Amino acid sequence: MRPFVAGNWKMNHTPTSGRQFVKEISPKAKGLDADIVIFPPFVTIPSVVDEARGSNIKVGAQNLFWEKKGAFTGEVSAEMLLDVGVEYVIIGHSERRNIFGETDELINLKLKSAISYGLKPVLCIGEHLAEREAGRTMDKIKFQLDSDLSNVDINKVIIAYEPIWAIGTGKTASPDQAEEVHSFISEFLGSKIKILYGGSVKPENAYQLMVQPHIDGVLVGGASLKPHSFYDIILAGLKAFKEKK
Ligand code: 13P
Repeated sequence: MRPFVAGNWKMNHTPTSGRQFVKEISPKAKGLDADIVIFPPFVTIPSVVDEARGSNIKVGAQNLFWEKKGAFTGEVSAEMLLDVGVEYVIIGHSERRNIFGETDELINLKLKSAISYGLKPVLCIGEHLAEREAGRTMDKIKFQLDSDLSNVDINKVIIAYEPIWAIGTGKTASPDQAEEVHSFISEFLGSKIKILYGGSVKPENAYQLMVQPHIDGVLVGGASLKPHSFYDIILAGLKAFKEKK
């Protein structure tokens, strides 16, 4: 068991600054017993893949379209991602659901496409603040898992629990709140799949989150943009997992 520490750069880092990031972090990350994955914007992927070659840093994309090719202006397929050296792909991030109107049906198609091409999908799920306050967190989680994973081989999927009220707000779910949902997901899926936590993860709270029994790693937004804070989160994960063994 080792921590899975992922950085979702969202719409940040150009090909030039992304390369610089990897240049700084890869010597320090060498030999660390962790899965480290960076998710740059599409255009930044090739320079990050190039700079990460020979290191233990893997690269993912933030989205994909399920068709193989054709008249789909602005979209990128699994085949294209594989061709540039991508191994992972985030699917169903709450920003895609809420800003770009992605439905659970589309997310299900994307998951199936990613898996059929051998990409490793990271499926994001999570509740709105109003849903949590109404005591409907687990209902929402169950609904998303049921619809997004319909006819999908769950053993090929990594789940990221990202409560929407905790994303980019500085309000992290407490370790207990996160653990409660993670253990629910783990029981619900009845399988040994990886479950990451995302939402205002920082070097200061990463250890307390990752030391929880059902938290297998983190998906970090803002704090993954600077090499030193991302690196400190990896170290926090290593410390937490040493204690969990
Ligand atoms: P922040 O860490 O900036 O809250 O973002 C979390 C996230 O959305 C990761 O996918």
